Amino acid sequence: MTFLFLSDDPKRSEPAAKRLGQWLPMRLMALEDYCPSRVHALSPVVIDIDLTSQDGIKLFRDRFRSEERALAKVFLIRGTSRAEPYQADALGAALTIPALPRRAEAVKLITMRAQAQGTGIRGIDPEVPEFVISATEEVSSLHDIFYETVASGQPLPRAQVISASELLAESLKESSIAQWLEAVKQHNSYTYRHCMTVSGLAAAFTMHLGFGESDVQRISIGALMHDVGKVKMPISLLDKPGKLTSAEIAQIRTHAAHGAEILLDDAHFSDEVVDIARHHHELLDGSGYPDGISGRAISDPVRIMTIVDIFSALIDKRSYKDAMSAKQAYDILLDMEGKLEFALVRAFEPVALAAQSVKRNVELQAAVA
Ligand SMILES: [Fe+2]
Ligand SMILES: [Fe+2]
Repeated sequence: MTFLFLSDDPKRSEPAAKRLGQWLPMRLMALEDYCPSRVHALSPVVIDIDLTSQDGIKLFRDRFRSEERALAKVFLIRGTSRAEPYQADALGAALTIPALPRRAEAVKLITMRAQAQGTGIRGIDPEVPEFVISATEEVSSLHDIFYETVASGQPLPRAQVISASELLAESLKESSIAQWLEAVKQHNSYTYRHCMTVSGLAAAFTMHLGFGESDVQRISIGALMHDVGKVKMPISLLDKPGKLTSAEIAQIRTHAAHGAEILLDDAHFSDEVVDIARHHHELLDGSGYPDGISGRAISDPVRIMTIVDIFSALIDKRSYKDAMSAKQAYDILLDMEGKLEFALVRAFEPVALAAQSVKRNVELQAAVA
């Protein structure tokens, strides 16, 4: 669904609307042409008016009648006067964004819409330690950094990836995979949550398999980077609040090859990380993508990642499907014999079932309260 960008001077607003349009479907419209009934009440509207002029404010007030108050309004701040943010606040701004919005602001718009539609995930178990929450935030910020670096042709932030993998390992040693996943729930973007869930589960799984510290780190780095190709996809597609069409699925599937290309161009990441990015959707019977490789052509790190990746998608909530319990999701892995390495699926069982425990404990506590 298209986001509306309303302006008292569409010519002036063009650069900002175009920038947001890189990531989201945006429609620039003159404020005077705006007809409230045309707007879907659950989508935030971006508004660019001269917040220092009484004419702009009057035009806004005329257009946004009282029944429109519930609509989430996002104001562009031009920075010409210090009073602008106060004025935006007085007009009921749910969010203010800079004149040249960044990708992070586009993500916020998607998040606001998801929350308005009831798909946002909120509420976090107070038992989760603060350091686990900040470690997930560190991992989550990587995605924005990936985007900025890829878009500007800079090298990927290898030092930050290593630091995130270390924080991840520390968090899992000091707390548990269940707490890690609980902290992940506070993040609203599916794409970001998925990266954090896969990384947490990959690290917990390799620790459980008895891998040494450096091997756990290698696999964690692979997990952190496995979907890096998604930076080439529009956010509106990645976090689409509904089922994807077959054309959209085909587009999403290109992320594996894109990811490998980005990593190969960079030369700061090992062949193993490239292999994981390209092949984490391949299946042992050759029915996966992008290359349809099978059997021995699929490496051990990729086999681990495939299991963790599928499981992560199943236990996460999307707007069109509820989150599956860890047990249900694990049973699906068991049904995929021939496609996944079965010995590894068996070995994954305790990690998979541990993923459920915080939620189960909370439910038990609620039941006896
Ligand atoms: Fe993927
Ligand atoms: Fe993935």
